[in-house]
Amino acid sequence: MRSHLSSSLLLAGTALSAVSAAAVDGRGHPTTECSNVSFKIPATAQNLVFATPPGANNETEILAFIKQSLTTGEAVSSTQRVSGDYAINAVFCQPTGKTKARGVLEVLVHGLGFDKASWGGLGFGDQYNWHAGANARGYHTLAIDRLGQGADAAHPDPRNIVQAQLHAEIIHQLITTIRKNAKNNALGQGFDKIVYVGHSFGSILGTAVGRQYPADADVTVLTGYSSAPNLGAISGYQLASAALFRPQQFAGYPLGYTMMPVEAERRANFFEGAYDPALAHFDYLTQRPSTDGEWATLAAGAGPGGGDYPGAVFVAAGVYDVGACQPPLATCQDILNKTRLAFPKARAYDFFAPDNTGHALSLHYSAPETLKRVHDFLDRHIY
Ligand SMILES: *[C@@H]1O[C@H](CO)[C@@H](O)[C@H](O)[C@H]1NC(C)=O
Ligand SMILES: *[C@@H]1O[C@H](CO)[C@@H](O)[C@H](O)[C@H]1NC(C)=O
Ligand SMILES: *[C@@H]1O[C@H](CO)[C@@H](O)[C@H](O)[C@H]1NC(C)=O
Repeated sequence: MRSHLSSSLLLAGTALSAVSAAAVDGRGHPTTECSNVSFKIPATAQNLVFATPPGANNETEILAFIKQSLTTGEAVSSTQRVSGDYAINAVFCQPTGKTKARGVLEVLVHGLGFDKASWGGLGFGDQYNWHAGANARGYHTLAIDRLGQGADAAHPDPRNIVQAQLHAEIIHQLITTIRKNAKNNALGQGFDKIVYVGHSFGSILGTAVGRQYPADADVTVLTGYSSAPNLGAISGYQLASAALFRPQQFAGYPLGYTMMPVEAERRANFFEGAYDPALAHFDYLTQRPSTDGEWATLAAGAGPGGGDYPGAVFVAAGVYDVGACQPPLATCQDILNKTRLAFPKARAYDFFAPDNTGHALSLHYSAPETLKRVHDFLDRHIY
């Protein structure tokens, strides 16, 4: 699986397939079948207007703006209405063979610095493949590229357009389409049970969707998340504009699309404890940009929790997750247990803190156990 992912491919900026097709059941039959799908989503949001925005073509000002948003916070002067028809690309995977499908769709929303490929395990095998793990338990999966990410050919205004609130509205419209539009959507089938699964910023967006649209997700799974985020730890890492740092791959991206240029910092942010160093290196090479608008609205969105969200909530964060938890195991468990208080109306709540695991938890050796805990919870609480 790994051998064909040569560095020349990477330098050419080829979009990597998110999905390993190798998952098989006990009899050697495939348990998963994936396809690329694309939605056209109309959405409208009240995005934030910042009081002291950086120059759109000044990397120094953009990086200072992000750093300030993560430390003291950026002053917001007002909101503005943004609206459009947005192309959302995704990988859709279905249980096949002997696996009994449950008619439940997991919508997978990636974190900053990643795209939909992160849920496929980056080609390092099924143990890291969320699709394969979920499909083997009978759950369908849809991993989206958020607006401006992954296969999105448009590079919308990174600060004014690509913000948390517009992401949340797009995800709400996507879920609405899948629920209401039975066979007339890009999946060719409707689902009336939806599980929202987020990682990191994708989890913060999940809390926003749950607060504003409590009927969207029957169950919400938040990974790389807690109600006690440590943004100070993240603010120390260097960033660079993707178009300047990796010009062969990201020429034409506005400078507000940023990446982590220092491999040791990328690793410290996402990996800790027990993991495959080759995977962590590959992750550094294949990292995806995040926008200054995302960084600034991450800070604003990290606090409020789930409001009156009535669905079941499962939270998972590695014990060594720099942004969400804290070692040792008992301390992290306590943080995740207290995160329950951020979801006072949830009909069920549980958590899992994989030990020896960092922020990108599904890319660590503990990933199969995390997948098992999540799906044990779903089996109990989806109906
Ligand atoms: C999805 O698209 C990518 C290119 O963007 C391609 O490499 C991959 O093979 C496609 N996957 C499937 C399952 O068709
Ligand atoms: C970028 O902004 C910095 C800080 O405001 C300023 O010193 C510098 O001259 C600007 N660079 C360009 C190319 O405008
Ligand atoms: C979680 O906290 C509750 C009190 O809110 C406590 O009763 C329970 O034992 C804790 N569970 C774990 C696993 O720490």
